Amino acid sequence: MLLTEDVPPALRAPDPAFRRDIVEGLSREPKATPPIWFYDRRGSELFEAITDLPEYYPTRTETALLERHGADFAAAVGAGRAVVEFGAGSSRKTPHLLRAIDPAAYVPIDISGDFLHASSAELASAFPGLPILPVVGDFNGELALPAAIDGLPRLGFFPGSTIGNMEPDAAVDLLRAMRRLLGGDAMLLIGMDRIKDRDRLVAAYDDAAGVTAAFNLNLIARINRELAGDLPLDGFVHRAIWNDDKARIEMHLEAVRPLHFHVAGQCFRMEQGETIHTESSHKYGARDERLLLRAGGWEPLREWSDAEGLFSLILAGA
Ligand code: AVJ
Repeated sequence: MLLTEDVPPALRAPDPAFRRDIVEGLSREPKATPPIWFYDRRGSELFEAITDLPEYYPTRTETALLERHGADFAAAVGAGRAVVEFGAGSSRKTPHLLRAIDPAAYVPIDISGDFLHASSAELASAFPGLPILPVVGDFNGELALPAAIDGLPRLGFFPGSTIGNMEPDAAVDLLRAMRRLLGGDAMLLIGMDRIKDRDRLVAAYDDAAGVTAAFNLNLIARINRELAGDLPLDGFVHRAIWNDDKARIEMHLEAVRPLHFHVAGQCFRMEQGETIHTESSHKYGARDERLLLRAGGWEPLREWSDAEGLFSLILAGA
């Protein structure tokens, strides 16, 4: 069997969803593209590197919370649930949770089958006897859970402040869809990044080593490679800005000179200083978190945060 990953990208048929999202996003005013397309192989590697940066506090803060509060999770959640993780990727956080709560099954969901199967195999050897039932799919679309967990109460696990990528209306829709998928006796453990000092936030998305810049610019390289693009790599710079009105960090690719380029046979122009808005990362105050969960059909039950209040983990009931 020939795996798609074995075929050089230039020879692969372009992903129609990628082409549609990018062409539509570049045709829009202002230009904006969905952040899911950051995560090709190189983008996933760069994101892993971001999580180790001194400026990028979310991953290490959340992981420490998961390590520290296992006994609390066990008491609040109880044993015997099916843990359903949304966007499982290569998550190194999951073992801490699984060790603490003694679940009946683990269902990681991710769009990248490669990543999912590798991390599932790793978890299977660390947790012999725990049924691991990976689901390849987009949790923003319609999903079916494996029949093997029918009848088991569920714990949704949505770490990493991934919800922050969504506009508030889409975040509420997703929370409601999760509630529908997981059932009336479900619980949800969700990570959210707090509003904090603006310099700290901006530094987390514009690190001194330039890894986040490389992550953002990798989208240009991917468009050129997979969508027959001719965007000049040196025509763009990475920008991270705090939008205080919307309480979010925005990442942009800013044109450093007037640009004219092609993608999938279509022409595009940018003025100097014009940007492509590539990601929003919403931040929440303690009350905002609870309001968002309630709007999505979840009642907050408990909350854990670090001493500085950088990041929080919230347990909610359906
Ligand atoms: C994976 C969406 C949680 O928004 O912090 C990190 C992605 N982008 N640095 C985030 C990201 C730039 C990250 N999430």
